[in-house]
Amino acid sequence: MTRTGFELVAQDHPRLARMRTIFAEQYRFSRDIVDRAIAAFGGSWADEAEETLRVLFSDDEGLNAAIRGYSVFALDSMRRQARFEKTLAYPSKTYAEAASEVYFNDAHMMGVYLPGLLLSHFLWPHHYRQLEFFDAAFVRPMKAAGGARFVEVGVGTGLYSRRLLQALPAATGYGLDISPSSQEYANRHVAAFGLQDRYQVHLRDVAEEADASAPWLLCVEVLEHLEDPVAFLKLLRRTLAPGGRAFITAALDAANADHIYLYRTSEEVQVHLQAAGFALEQAFLGAAYKPAQAGAPVPLAAAFVVI
Ligand SMILES: C[S@@+](CC[C@H](N)C(=O)[O-])C[C@H]1O[C@@H](n2cnc3c(N)ncnc32)[C@H](O)[C@@H]1O
Repeated sequence: MTRTGFELVAQDHPRLARMRTIFAEQYRFSRDIVDRAIAAFGGSWADEAEETLRVLFSDDEGLNAAIRGYSVFALDSMRRQARFEKTLAYPSKTYAEAASEVYFNDAHMMGVYLPGLLLSHFLWPHHYRQLEFFDAAFVRPMKAAGGARFVEVGVGTGLYSRRLLQALPAATGYGLDISPSSQEYANRHVAAFGLQDRYQVHLRDVAEEADASAPWLLCVEVLEHLEDPVAFLKLLRRTLAPGGRAFITAALDAANADHIYLYRTSEEVQVHLQAAGFALEQAFLGAAYKPAQAGAPVPLAAAFVVI
């Protein structure tokens, strides 16, 4: 019998091996999701996933809870996506409704949304590819330029900020989020990696910021959560220091509970970025999976480096 890609790395990746077993035994809809990620992304993916699981979910109780949350999050997204394929519209919802249903619902945030979002960044191809683009197009240039200060708006899990802090040992930064749950989750995430002296999340709307103080700025998957993304982008633009650089992303054709602004193409986001005064440097577009038939919408991740 030939050894699978996973068996070759399992020995050095015990938490990943445990996650693989839990999916295989308890979550049939995702039973081979770890093997598929290994086949697609290889050893460096396995190392990064193992580190994240080891630091954040070192015991089985924590790992089981995170995988349970991810599974509820993924199944809910799949149901909403199936409806979206027929309607090509997100159900009408205000920002205030989405905020009370999701961002201010602590049980949902801690049990489902934040662990779901975190694990999706390793398990969903478009999310992991977006992380790779972040490293190549933003983190490495920031390192090369000797960048030392950054701000993340809408931190959610804290994954992007943590990645940047790890890659740039002299960097300091802070995050802004309106959700007390995201604040707590991201602060705990960063502290678990021992990076809390260089970073903290503040419970603040970007509207209270907008003071040209951020030479390096991140905002990942927030635009599609807003009623007026251009107004928000204008605040981000004002937050960016002169000569600064921003990494901004949006989910396209992705029917999550709190996605209220439908972007269907990368160009639509680029028009909004330009309307807010940003100039485009680099763009990324990744798909969650191949469409079942030509023309069927699939969730996409669109990311941009702008100045
Ligand atoms: C999809 S999550 C972002 C994902 C996150 N970047 C990550 O890597 O996990 C959306 C986040 O944006 C936050 N948010 C929504 N509106 C906001 C606003 N006006 N200002 C700051 N944060 C906001 C939400 O509370 C939530 O934590």
